Amino acid sequence: MMGPKARLQPRGPSRKSSSSSTLIFSMLIISLFFILILLALGILSIPTNSINSPTANDLSSIIQRVTDAAGSEVSDGGADHWAEVISWEPRAVIYHNFLSEEECEHLIKMAKPHMVKSTVVDSATGKSKDSRVRTSSGTFLKRGQDETVRAIEKRISTFTFLSVEHGEGLQVLHYEVGQKYEPHYDYFLDDYNTKNGGQRMATVLMYLSDVEEGGETVFPHAKGNISAVPWWDELSACGKEGLSVKPKMGDALLFWSMRPDASPDPSSLHGGCAVIKGNKWSSTKWIRMNEYKA
Ligand SMILES: *[C@@H]1O[C@H](CO)[C@@H](O)[C@H](O)[C@H]1NC(C)=O
Repeated sequence: MMGPKARLQPRGPSRKSSSSSTLIFSMLIISLFFILILLALGILSIPTNSINSPTANDLSSIIQRVTDAAGSEVSDGGADHWAEVISWEPRAVIYHNFLSEEECEHLIKMAKPHMVKSTVVDSATGKSKDSRVRTSSGTFLKRGQDETVRAIEKRISTFTFLSVEHGEGLQVLHYEVGQKYEPHYDYFLDDYNTKNGGQRMATVLMYLSDVEEGGETVFPHAKGNISAVPWWDELSACGKEGLSVKPKMGDALLFWSMRPDASPDPSSLHGGCAVIKGNKWSSTKWIRMNEYKA
């Protein structure tokens, strides 16, 4: 009888230690659950702060205010500058009140005597040609042509982080009722036009006038919910065919034709809708990958 007892006794502490390790194990499991619950609560609490404010890397987001527009109800309208990211594919942002009314009028006044029918680039030869897809008239100003132009070019450089020397001269465009520019890319498909400055990387499109109806800039291949723009109900039928920006005097639209890896971005396809009522003045700055000899 002593034998089995003696044999059993040493097992006592070992059984005790195995039961205490079970206890530690279950405590670990319980605390793991606790941590998981805390994590889940933490994760669930994030979206409650950010409903309607997509994160910067949410590629499907349309419209994102970058600066607070709280002061935007000021009646003079011209003093308020703020940026609005409208799309990530293509990368596009509106700078509100980028130009003053005086600057808009100045550009129009300088361009008016020199307006000629706009042309497009022939993708086979790289030469300019007349086209029915682009029915506006326009002219190029020289880079740094006068003090106002230099100030605008400096501002464009500041906003885009791209140097003035990479920019082509400003082009001023005029669209009358019925005039439009069919969707196209700003990057070139030929070798001829990239000799000076390389490929077009970004475009800054400045609206020099309001347009009563039509004349939107439309991105037919933009990703995301195109009808989520607050101005959806004001768009023409053409404007509703993609992500659209309504022309507003002084506003500038920056979009990128190149992805950050310098490959052409097909979602940058864009057009100018026909003006339905009123007329449209705009100015374009194309910015190249390299220095553009002007
Ligand atoms: C797109 O946005 C509009 C306006 O916010 C909304 O009514 C509609 O349900 C959205 N569509 C999709 C597919 O999310």
